Amino acid sequence: MTAPARLVVGCGVGWIAAAALGLLGRHYSQGDFAVRPDRRRFLRNAMLGAVGSVLALIGAVFGWLLWPRKTGAFGGELTVSAADVPAVNAPPFRSTAGHFYLAHTADGLLAMWWKCPHLGCTVPWVGPPESPHAYQCPCHGSMYNYAGERTGGPAPRPLDLMRVTVADGGSVRVDTGAITTRTDYAPDQAAPYPA
Ligand code: FES
Repeated sequence: MTAPARLVVGCGVGWIAAAALGLLGRHYSQGDFAVRPDRRRFLRNAMLGAVGSVLALIGAVFGWLLWPRKTGAFGGELTVSAADVPAVNAPPFRSTAGHFYLAHTADGLLAMWWKCPHLGCTVPWVGPPESPHAYQCPCHGSMYNYAGERTGGPAPRPLDLMRVTVADGGSVRVDTGAITTRTDYAPDQAAPYPA
């Protein structure tokens, strides 16, 4: 839910709660209610409770709205500018903040988490001409091709994928909190580029 929508929902809930408590207070303040000391005490406590509830509700809504959302770092969404999107089969864009490589296959874009599926080491791009393999893990030697498929070593699967969204203008959003595993490469894993 977007921040404006959350604000509208929060205000709506606060208004309904305040209205309900106001009606309750009016109901108990009618008739001979005001002349009885115990009822007067009850009314005062009810009003204090109502005010406290509304303040607590407002505080909760503002806390929810102002709580920092994770963006621009691993776990959140990052944007890769159109200028940084690699050409087809060119060396991938490397995001230090997002811990991923953005590769451009003939089928489209792949954002791959650089964490080795074997035991979690960071897998560097070694690409041609240094190596016939695109990525090679320094820990136990797992190797992967340009699309992240395992080509050798003990890794149990290809590099994991992150969700990619192509925006107008050619920039790309990578959701580093939306990670999926796979058993091999399939063309529909790639986001067509341009969209
Ligand atoms: S952690 Fe990468 S091959 Fe073992």
